[in-house]
Amino acid sequence: VHASDGTHRLYERLADELAASIQSGALRPGDRLPSVRSLSRQQRVSVSTVLEAYVRLENQGLVEVRPQSGHYVRLRRSLLEEVAEPRAARPSMTPTKVSIRERVMSVYGAVRDPGVVQLGAAYLSPELLPAEKLGRMLGAVARSAPGIGVSYDPPPGFAPLRRLIARRSLDWGCRLAPDDIVTTVGAIEGLQLCLRAVTKAGDKVVVESPTYYGMLQLIESMGLKAIEVPVRPRSGIDLDALQQVLRAHRVKACLLIPNFNNPLGSLLSDADKAHLVRLLSEREIPLIEDDIYGDLYFGAARPRPAKAFDRDGFVMLCSSFSKTLAPGYRVGWTAPGRFRAQVELLKFVNTVGTPTLPQMAIAEFLETGGYDHHLRRLRRVLEAQVEQFRAAIVEHFPEGTRISRPLGGFLLWIELPPRADAFELHSRALERGISIAPGALFSAKQRYKNCLRLSCGFAWSERFERSIRSLGEIARSLERRRAM
Ligand SMILES: Cc1ncc(COP(=O)(O)O)c(C=O)c1O
Repeated sequence: VHASDGTHRLYERLADELAASIQSGALRPGDRLPSVRSLSRQQRVSVSTVLEAYVRLENQGLVEVRPQSGHYVRLRRSLLEEVAEPRAARPSMTPTKVSIRERVMSVYGAVRDPGVVQLGAAYLSPELLPAEKLGRMLGAVARSAPGIGVSYDPPPGFAPLRRLIARRSLDWGCRLAPDDIVTTVGAIEGLQLCLRAVTKAGDKVVVESPTYYGMLQLIESMGLKAIEVPVRPRSGIDLDALQQVLRAHRVKACLLIPNFNNPLGSLLSDADKAHLVRLLSEREIPLIEDDIYGDLYFGAARPRPAKAFDRDGFVMLCSSFSKTLAPGYRVGWTAPGRFRAQVELLKFVNTVGTPTLPQMAIAEFLETGGYDHHLRRLRRVLEAQVEQFRAAIVEHFPEGTRISRPLGGFLLWIELPPRADAFELHSRALERGISIAPGALFSAKQRYKNCLRLSCGFAWSERFERSIRSLGEIARSLERRRAM
């Protein structure tokens, strides 16, 4: 290392310059620093000088290394650790006729507009998905098996795909057989078929509170009644509360998201999953389990679905490739346990079959496309993005804002100070070209008026920074107005 002047070594000067950029905000938490080689070329210093500079920044706690990815400006973990999480909900657990459709439509009218910053809907931007590779595979399977591609594929669905899903299920402790599985048009069709197989109009169904509004829309469209049971922000549905409900009501099904509940990102422990399955099986109540976010864990291992604890076939597992590969391909599946024959029949009645070519392309991707490699990368990116969004919210939102700490997925649930109205925030944000999901969409009783869900499914950029700042400004102004 050469001394650049009497006191400062070259690597120290380089590190100090980078530190100044971090302090000034030119480089923000979560930003990637230039690669060692490109910085060495640009600054005309040796690779080892850059490496030493990066080590110095690491020792100062300003930079962190992410394996196989590079050097990043460290997130302000101390600040993020201090932010309070949303309070556990205490909904009144009485059956409710759901009426949410119009509210959902009023919010999602804006989602198709490409000019709007999409923080509301839970989907990943195409650049995080292997869109081109999938497209090539779609073309290749269509050419190589044109007859199969244009033919009906009646239930239970494309056999190679079912076999590959069954093989993957061994990794989650499920040991599904290909014939346990029926493919569906997205997870949403699976959820609907399972509900139809085990309920009729007027029946009572347990959902989490808050829960994905798609569940509430299904319940509404089928004339069912929802009973909301609270979800603890990190550890999932409150089983004591569920037991109370089971004692008080004749529940016909539970429709739950044990792995990374939408919107909270909470995760039910294995012990709780086993307990949940036992509680329901004893009463012969089907558990319709939505595991659509299960592969997007931030922890060390893929969490098991509740289905892994199912001995009597009362768990009806549903998932899809919408959150990991291609929502537009609409390929999902269900393993409906002892209700498989009914579900298969309903599937035939509903849509005859799942479109053949997308199933073939996804099967090809699972077989040869490096799905696990893609998932590893996606998980790393999403975890960093979630932290990035959280950091920006901490910075820009009003004092007293609470933010979820999801354990997987890419959604954040935000509780504003009590007086703020998230529907108003939604309307005002839309005027500035930003869409969000107001909290009242996530409850049959339209609670959570001061909450909202944000999606972190797009790569962090200046545009999102500006949008979060705008949302924070609007939230502050709403709060001030209410306070007057
Ligand atoms: C929990 C949950 N289930 C189901 C769906 C819908 O899945 P699909 O697009 O596969 O029908 C979503 C989409 O947002 C979701 O968040």
